[in-house]
Amino acid sequence: MFLIVSLKFQNFYWTPFYLYNFIFFYLIIKFKKEFFIIFIVKLHKKKKKIQSKKLSIIKSNNLDNENNSAILVVKDLVKTYQMGEFEIHALNGVSFSVNSGEFIGLMGTSGSGKTTLLNLIGGLDSITRGAIFLEGVNLADMTDKQLTTIRRERMGFIFQFFNLIPVLSAFENVELPLKVLKIPKKERKERILKLFQELGLADRIHNKPNQLSGGQQQRVAIARALALDPAIILADEPTGNLDSKTTETIMKSLVELNRDYKKTIIMVTHEIVLKKFFTRILHMDDGKIIREEKL
Ligand SMILES: Nc1ncnc2c1ncn2[C@@H]1O[C@H](COP(=O)(O)OP(=O)(O)O)[C@@H](O)[C@H]1O
Ligand SMILES: [Mg+2]
Repeated sequence: MFLIVSLKFQNFYWTPFYLYNFIFFYLIIKFKKEFFIIFIVKLHKKKKKIQSKKLSIIKSNNLDNENNSAILVVKDLVKTYQMGEFEIHALNGVSFSVNSGEFIGLMGTSGSGKTTLLNLIGGLDSITRGAIFLEGVNLADMTDKQLTTIRRERMGFIFQFFNLIPVLSAFENVELPLKVLKIPKKERKERILKLFQELGLADRIHNKPNQLSGGQQQRVAIARALALDPAIILADEPTGNLDSKTTETIMKSLVELNRDYKKTIIMVTHEIVLKKFFTRILHMDDGKIIREEKL
């Protein structure tokens, strides 16, 4: 009978618990039967409790996330900065969702809250109130470690000032996030060369950032953002530091990524001329989305 109980027990637990079988047999010989029955029942109950806790987390995520087809759901987001005795209301209740494959333009005048919103989505700043769900996961439920993993593996960031590491070559800059994840050297090389080819950078792989033009640097940054095949790309004024001709080529690269590679992108800009590139525009003012425009 104890053999059966013990085998059944093994089914319920992972490999580390395999050891318990041996302990059981030892205890069976040493002590009375009744003791083990109570012991097994107790452990079984504990396992059930853990399972139901896990389920409730998943359930709460799904219940809160009404739009299940959306890759990103932002709900009643509020961000208040405390500056001494003053409160700055950077976001005053922002709600929207983004479906996979959209190219969203986040537009508005300076100070309207665009960067704050993007930083909160990217987990770069703390939320005052509200919630953000990425791929059905409530970012607020994540530990710091889990959030770092999500940020690294599911989000790609592109900034106005490129943020490349000056002492590394273009290739090494893109390689860095792949190295962190211990992706094998051969695969890293293949992936990066393919990205550089697609972004028209094949002849620039060994150049350091200061040997590249602004447009080329930004394309390296785009390659870096794409290296881990993220669910969503977040770009804050990626053309803000470029002339109009270079801006056009960068925008074309982003449109290609969106249209041909089905990448979901949220891009902040205040440049009205860029409107034509987006599939949808969210207009912001005073920490709120005041208007939505479908193109
Ligand atoms: N770290 C901060 N501390 C205090 N106030 C901030 C901070 N970041 C942004 N703000 C304020 O929040 C508001 C929105 O800023 P921001 O999101 O940068 O706007 P945008 O990107 O649209 O120009 C502004 O009034 C700005 O001064
Ligand atoms: Mg900004």
